[in-house]
Amino acid sequence: MHVVVTGASSGIGAAIAREFGAAGARLTLLARREALLREVADTCGSPCRIVATDLSDPADATHWREEAEAEHGPIDVLVLNAGVEITSRVSATTLDQGQRLLAVNLLVPLAITHAVLPAMLARGSGAIVHVASVDGIVTLPGHAWYGASKAGLASFSEVLHAEVAPHGVHVMPVYPGPVATPMSDRAYEAYGGRKGLAALIPEGSPEELARRVRLGIERKRRRVVYPGVFAPARWMPSVVRAVYDRATPYVLP
Ligand SMILES: NC(=O)c1ccc[n+]([C@@H]2O[C@H](COP(=O)([O-])OP(=O)(O)OC[C@H]3O[C@@H](n4cnc5c(N)ncnc54)[C@H](OP(=O)(O)O)[C@@H]3O)[C@@H](O)[C@H]2O)c1
Repeated sequence: MHVVVTGASSGIGAAIAREFGAAGARLTLLARREALLREVADTCGSPCRIVATDLSDPADATHWREEAEAEHGPIDVLVLNAGVEITSRVSATTLDQGQRLLAVNLLVPLAITHAVLPAMLARGSGAIVHVASVDGIVTLPGHAWYGASKAGLASFSEVLHAEVAPHGVHVMPVYPGPVATPMSDRAYEAYGGRKGLAALIPEGSPEELARRVRLGIERKRRRVVYPGVFAPARWMPSVVRAVYDRATPYVLP
């Protein structure tokens, strides 16, 4: 099984790489920081190709694919996980910063999906995982650009699931709530630290999320929401949004 993971140098992507490595997959791992990718590859325990690349240009998002498939065979599982976050008011964010985030979090994953999907459909097998966010369902003040990118990715993934499931391809949106990674550390810091109400917010582990992603693919789950306490956000987004709206004056410094 050939598994491709973007954003594999850190956090959730690194955990997903190790999870599939332990299950015996051949891996292609992508991110910008080569030394970190190498460290992850060394702990995966399976054949690993690393590609140090900046995935921020949708027009050049799949240059790695031909060589990766020549080495490891056709892509069986594509995990589109690379992402960046802006935690800041819109008024304190430049248009350029926002557009760069949209490229990494939305346009590039869609471009890679478009490139890889036809071969999966032709074979009638394969899985594509889009790592979105609970922020794509409910709107957190300070995450306007980030939430827009994740809502877009989640919506695309939900629709694509329904379109291709009858043809043997499994598309699975993943909605992490807070998961302990360098990204969540930076977000907590921007919101003023892990104190007050923030101290009560449950935080998941990248390893457990990675396990659920692998099982989700194995069992063809419709989607993954983790930690599970955030599942009601999918069913009652208006209620959660109303709470967030009232909290807005307090959550951003
Ligand atoms: N942690 C959470 O609480 C949480 C919650 C909801 C959703 N998520 C989503 O989960 C995914 C993984 O996040 P994480 O928490 O594991 O964060 P992380 O530790 O900061 O990892 C982000 C990964 O994305 C890669 N990346 C960022 N920009 C890139 C670029 N231009 N080109 C290639 N790779 C790039 C980074 O690698 P390099 O820097 O080496 O390029 C890194 O491997 C993201 O999509 C994030 O939005 C996380």
